[in-house]
Amino acid sequence: MFSENFHDFGVADLIVETANITDALRASAFLRACRREPVPYTPVWLMRQAGRYMREYREVRARMSFLELCKTPSLAAEVTVTAAERLGVDAAIIFADILLIIEPMGLELEFSKGEGPVIHNPVRGPHDVDRLREVEDTSALGFVFDAIRETRRALPSDLPLIGFAGAPFTLASYIVEGGASRNYVHAKSLMYNDSGAWHAMMSLISRALVKYLNAQIAAGAQAVQLFDSWVGALSPDDYRQYVLPHTRHVIAGVTEGTPVIHFGTGTATLLELMREAGGDVIGLDWRVRLDEAWQRIGHDVAVMGNLDPVALFANQEQLRAQAQTILAQAAGRPGHIFNLGHGILPETPVENVIALVDMVHEMSSRSQDK
Ligand code: CP3
Repeated sequence: MFSENFHDFGVADLIVETANITDALRASAFLRACRREPVPYTPVWLMRQAGRYMREYREVRARMSFLELCKTPSLAAEVTVTAAERLGVDAAIIFADILLIIEPMGLELEFSKGEGPVIHNPVRGPHDVDRLREVEDTSALGFVFDAIRETRRALPSDLPLIGFAGAPFTLASYIVEGGASRNYVHAKSLMYNDSGAWHAMMSLISRALVKYLNAQIAAGAQAVQLFDSWVGALSPDDYRQYVLPHTRHVIAGVTEGTPVIHFGTGTATLLELMREAGGDVIGLDWRVRLDEAWQRIGHDVAVMGNLDPVALFANQEQLRAQAQTILAQAAGRPGHIFNLGHGILPETPVENVIALVDMVHEMSSRSQDK
């Protein structure tokens, strides 16, 4: 093969660097769907596809903490590639975490057993906002870019790699709450009581995100996803006033030509506003029907989703029926990427995950004899 010879001379790398994308990647089902072009089958990948439900992941993770794993590029790459290959998905997502970016802002992050993420010096008032550090350059996150470069080299040459970051609201919720939250009392108090400080913090986060996402793209990611996991806690009016301009700023700042997936959960009442904020692909959770949601936001944007992650605990007949329902709602329209409506849960049976990927490919296959 030409490409192998090229590689010996480093020419392939040169091509990747100038165009940042090869023809093989550009023609992949995943990137075609991002651009709403026809595909031979519906591409599928799964949020949190590398994680504790998978034995290979648990084995690597047994040797070190989660943060150490994120900061060891060779192992982060290994975990990324293993998951993508084991499942047969149409895209890999770099193994990292949305909270890594808060460390260079001066926040002390820890993942404690059982509790999830903890921030030891959360932002609680305007004075704390003043103490946040501007992320001037993203070199402190160099381990993520190294992991992306290593992963890109190890992946099949036609398998796209997704970079990602937390969206401004979801990151702000952790920064202010200091961890997971049910009612977001601290975050919303800052938002309502001191909107100047709130907007200053959201702007600082957004500036950092633009640099971070673009550095991931420069390192070799073919698409990026913004996770606004907890944005469903907001009313539509609050979303418009306190969040939308910042998310829009981030998406508008992403390197031209790289698709952006804009994902959130609990967003049934926010979808039109999320669409307004931007994104080539809108990620849907399972609480909305895919056909109705797509109709609402318009067929001139792609959609991703939206199987309930708990469907993976059902028997395979039931799983197939639910996957088929989603494919039927997408109705073969260009621009559907199959995914869950949120990440895979830690106890999920891995054989069902593998079966789901096969089912989606098989049921959506648009071969000549069909
Ligand atoms: O999708 C992938 O395979 C890529 C890896 C990925 C992780 N986190 C790895 C991870 C991605 C895309 C994320 C994003 C992320 N991180 C989100 C947004 C996605 C979502 O689910 O809404 C959020 C909210 C976080 C913050 C975070 N990190 C939480 C709430 C937790 C869970 C804490 C726990 O103990 O359950 C994490 C830790 C985390 N991130 C794990 C993994 C595999 C588990 C860590 C471990 O090995 O113990």
